[in-house]
Amino acid sequence: MCPPRHFAVEYAINPWMDPSKPVDAGRAMAQWAELRDTYRRLGHTVEEIAPQPGLPDMVFAANSGTVIDGRVLGARFRAAERAAEAEHFRRWFVEHGYRDVTMPSRINEAEGDFAWTGRLLLAGTGFRTDPAAHAEAQEVLGVPVLSLRLVEPRYYHLDTALFVLSEATESAPAQIAYYPEAFSAGSRRVLARLFADAVPADAADAECFGLNGVSDGRNVVLPLEATALASRLADRGYEPVLVDISELRKAGGGPKCCTLEIRK
Ligand code: ARG
Repeated sequence: MCPPRHFAVEYAINPWMDPSKPVDAGRAMAQWAELRDTYRRLGHTVEEIAPQPGLPDMVFAANSGTVIDGRVLGARFRAAERAAEAEHFRRWFVEHGYRDVTMPSRINEAEGDFAWTGRLLLAGTGFRTDPAAHAEAQEVLGVPVLSLRLVEPRYYHLDTALFVLSEATESAPAQIAYYPEAFSAGSRRVLARLFADAVPADAADAECFGLNGVSDGRNVVLPLEATALASRLADRGYEPVLVDISELRKAGGGPKCCTLEIRK
């Protein structure tokens, strides 16, 4: 995670961002700290990268790396405003002992568009990540990649429209939640085929960034407003944990965007 010390909305690279509207940096920091402390309270280890001046979106760490089995595929941003973030994260991985770190040649916004189910890497395209980056991820990470097409500009990253609730095990398939309307007709059919048991989400769930959740297979961290989705998840045996991310949402981000998950 990256503390939002230099957080601001100074440019607009997604429909949520409006540079004419004020953001409260102190509040953003408090909300972020609450998210970090929530993970720690749930028993997870959180490591922090140093925030850099001039990179107001660096708080969205999920966009900067995809780590599976200790292998790291770095990022390559679509927007020039975020390009320099990728190198800070590459250096963090190298300095923290990751030996297998590859930087992509195609535009690749990492976990913004990649979701690991334990078997498959679901990969979004349409707004940010180049479809050619999907093949590159398969080759570098050595996992099967499944391409999905996003069609709704407000859900510009896969992680704004879909997340994994529990990874596949020997005996059970992965379970996901997703908002079908964010996907092309073909991708919707693929998702319905592969994840018949998915938790459905509607426009109201998506609108408050409810699909930008982080699950450890039991506890599911969600934005405060995602109460309807939370109760559907509770019905399925999950433990919803609600956090206030209203300030970070002004940049088009939620809990997942702030969280790069390291799978060693
Ligand atoms: N302002 C950032 C951007 O548009 C938000 C990124 C949110 N991250 C995410 N994983 N969806 O790039």
